[in-house]
Amino acid sequence: MDKKYALVTGGSSGIGLEIAMLLAQRGYALLLVSNEEKKLHQLAATLAKQFNVPVKTLCINLAQTHAAEQVYEFAANEGIEVEILVNSAGFFFFGQAVDADIEKAKAKIQLHVLTLSMLCTLFGKDMRQRKRGFILNISSISAFKDFPGIAYYGASKSYIKSFTRSLHTEMKLYNVHVTALCPGATATNLYDPNVIDVELGKKLGVMMPPHKVAKAGVEALFKNKPEVVPGVVTKLMLYAALLTPQWVIYQIRKHTKWLN
Ligand SMILES: NC(=O)c1ccc[n+]([C@@H]2O[C@H](COP(=O)([O-])OP(=O)(O)OC[C@H]3O[C@@H](n4cnc5c(N)ncnc54)[C@H](OP(=O)(O)O)[C@@H]3O)[C@@H](O)[C@H]2O)c1
Repeated sequence: MDKKYALVTGGSSGIGLEIAMLLAQRGYALLLVSNEEKKLHQLAATLAKQFNVPVKTLCINLAQTHAAEQVYEFAANEGIEVEILVNSAGFFFFGQAVDADIEKAKAKIQLHVLTLSMLCTLFGKDMRQRKRGFILNISSISAFKDFPGIAYYGASKSYIKSFTRSLHTEMKLYNVHVTALCPGATATNLYDPNVIDVELGKKLGVMMPPHKVAKAGVEALFKNKPEVVPGVVTKLMLYAALLTPQWVIYQIRKHTKWLN
């Protein structure tokens, strides 16, 4: 029987890499997609040896038009049947929306919104036909509330959550599992080290280790949950944020430097 593949965008780092390793542990072959060739090749060799599964790589900038079609064509040409699609590639920047670098802002929308959606459409259609498949999209707790300073990021993650929940309902009929993983702060390379001290976040317990986030996501996917917020502290932080009225956030911003 042909090997079943898990395609993981952003599989070279952080949450995506941990998800890829959990899936390899379950016997899935991997197609890792990200945009640094050397890192991908090194990782492919290490993971193939560690988990004894085939590991293929595709180096592509997913923040460009038609990236999803190129990934789909690559998989088809390689004869890869994608049973699991994980959309983890993403990036982050702080700052007021009107100060955003236009190219970075466009790239974020292309990567988080357009490429992710088109990958779901292209691979999801095959899954629906096979009546089997799994799609895990990485959203964020920032999808649940409007946060100043991360308008582009939060809005794109809200889109991912909403899109994924709709897709979950559509695909349930066809035995295709679809889940949105909504992590809080996680100790990865996502953050600029000059702005966020990840080591301190870990020590204080406000940042989760990526392997725990990944485990929660993979478990929720196999149980076909529409969405999952991993970790007790993250859930508490989310409830606190949801209970804080927007006018309080406005006052904090007005009278302190915090949240600016
Ligand atoms: N860390 C958190 O606190 C947190 C919280 C909530 C949600 N998330 C989400 O979790 C997902 C994974 O992030 P992470 O925390 O694991 O960060 P990470 O370690 O920085 O991983 C990001 C991954 O995305 C890839 N990537 C970024 N831009 C790309 C592009 N244009 N084309 C192709 N690949 C690209 C990176 O590839 P290269 O390494 O090759 O650049 C890397 O593999 C993201 O969607 C993020 O928004 C993270």
